Amino acid sequence: MDPCIGKVILSEEAISARVKELGAELSALYRGLNPILIVVLKGSYIFGADISRNLKVSHEVEFIRCQSYSGTASTGTVKMVTGLSKNLDLTGRHVIIVEDIVDTGLTLQKISQEFKGKGVASIKTCTFVQKVTKRRLDDVPDIDYVAFELPDLFIVGYGLDIDQKFRHLPYVAVYTPDKDAT
Ligand code: IMP
Repeated sequence: MDPCIGKVILSEEAISARVKELGAELSALYRGLNPILIVVLKGSYIFGADISRNLKVSHEVEFIRCQSYSGTASTGTVKMVTGLSKNLDLTGRHVIIVEDIVDTGLTLQKISQEFKGKGVASIKTCTFVQKVTKRRLDDVPDIDYVAFELPDLFIVGYGLDIDQKFRHLPYVAVYTPDKDAT
């Protein structure tokens, strides 16, 4: 394995069990509501697919793409690389935003703006990881569904990258350019 891959903090088995649990919870809540999962690329592509497969009720899936990180640091600005499809009518729809990580919350703030004035019936947020960090912006609303709460470490795997690498790892590990530092 690459020497930059440090301690595994979420095993493949732990992720699978938690995603199943979350899928069951959402299935019970959204029965008959035909929700739309808005999967935030790229980081959520695996989590979004797993949530979708574990959501045992009728639902739709859409994608948007944001970019805010360069290496292991947030750039402080979020670019909406691909927004919602122009012909997507969200009037009266139940929306679930599926994020990979909520760190400062800036990405979530930017995404929320996309739904202003669209007449949605409800909007909830579901994240794979919520980082416990002092960097969280004050006005970020609470996340509705959190798969895992983790300490403030830079992590890779299960869709999460460092400069586009390591997304394919089936587990989540701490990124350690200097392994002895962990
Ligand atoms: P926020 O806008 O600061 O909340 O950052 C959210 C985005 O930053 C996530 O959607 C990720 O793409 C990226 N990010 C934040 N922390 C990590 C990490 O530990 N590993 C990989 N990507 C991260």
